[in-house]
Amino acid sequence: MPATEHTDVTDLADLGLDEGGHLLVARALARLAPGERLTVTGRHPALGVHLAAWCREHGHQVADERGALVGPAVSVMVVKGDAGERRWRGAVRAGDAAGAPEARAEQTWGLAARGALVEAGGPPIGAQWSEREHVWADVAPRLYAAAAASQWDPATAVDWAAPVGAVPEEIERAVVQVMTYLVENEQAALIIPARLLSQLHPHYREVMQLLATQAADEARHVEVFTRRALLSGGPLGTSSAGGRASLQTLLAEPDFTTASFLLSVLGEGTFLDLLHFIHDHAPDLVTADVTRLAVRDEARHVAFGVAHTAHLAASDKAYLGALRQSVERRHSALLDTAGLNAEVFDSLVLLAAGSWSPEAIRRGWQAVHDLQSRMDAGRRRRLAYIGFPDDEAAELSALHTRNFM
Ligand SMILES: [Fe+2]
Ligand SMILES: [Fe+2]
Repeated sequence: MPATEHTDVTDLADLGLDEGGHLLVARALARLAPGERLTVTGRHPALGVHLAAWCREHGHQVADERGALVGPAVSVMVVKGDAGERRWRGAVRAGDAAGAPEARAEQTWGLAARGALVEAGGPPIGAQWSEREHVWADVAPRLYAAAAASQWDPATAVDWAAPVGAVPEEIERAVVQVMTYLVENEQAALIIPARLLSQLHPHYREVMQLLATQAADEARHVEVFTRRALLSGGPLGTSSAGGRASLQTLLAEPDFTTASFLLSVLGEGTFLDLLHFIHDHAPDLVTADVTRLAVRDEARHVAFGVAHTAHLAASDKAYLGALRQSVERRHSALLDTAGLNAEVFDSLVLLAAGSWSPEAIRRGWQAVHDLQSRMDAGRRRRLAYIGFPDDEAAELSALHTRNFM
């Protein structure tokens, strides 16, 4: 390439290229256009040799590799090449770091930060969900911030030393059965956001971060419910085939929004009432603590599911039909199963009853009946918020799994 008349000078003093001197040379060359010249001076004995090697590697030319000797100093003329410019040809910005995410995230942006200048030629990320409408809710950044600020330590947030010895043995067995059931539901609630997260384009970083905190929340719920179940020395309660079949249909749901809808809007929405119920009828402080802490986290999970599903339904009215089908499909798949573990239902009655007297059992039975009415009302309210007409919301709520989640 023809050298132009323009020449800059940079002096390395006794700094060698093998101890950071190349930074000064690169900085000086960055200010030049290809073809312009830079005179590099310095007193390091290997400067000429090292500079020639460095220039070959970076596509610049050295006019005279030995350099001109000026007293103890060396002076080498470098002509800037165009490899640096060529490298960034075809590079694109992966959206705007400070602004809203793009409607569509390119697979070729890969793992680049939102707003980064992406060099062409990297591996595509192969994300399954790369369109904003299919994963986004405007409340996601605020929910993530709230989640990050609300993380609690299971070791200190719960008074594990609070006595459970005063809980009558059969009530304690009921608590252990309910905790056993909660753990299996929490495990499903952990796996699903983790799976959605692994297939989400990271351009939608606030959703990615929110799903990560959601999975972390569920990890804590698994821990504290397990720990409460074991406080009286075990063993754990039963796990029913019907309950597990119900949860398995959630794990198998391939679509992001449908999975979020079934898990968070219908399942975790129903669990809000369940956790409040267990908290209100807790026979000991630990049971009250763990359900109080879990329900706070669940409220965020429900808020995202509702906001995201409403966001997509607002832009694509036909999507309500797909959601409706997902509830019907799940209902059909579970028709031949028992739904809720009978031991869990009975345990909830006993928890609310507090004793085995016929009058107490009647109260407990009524309390669980009222709980199911509140669960139904909550589901209908959320379904209506998403866009379902009231009659359809009532129908879909009635088709929701008897397993609650
Ligand atoms: Fe949970
Ligand atoms: Fe949850």
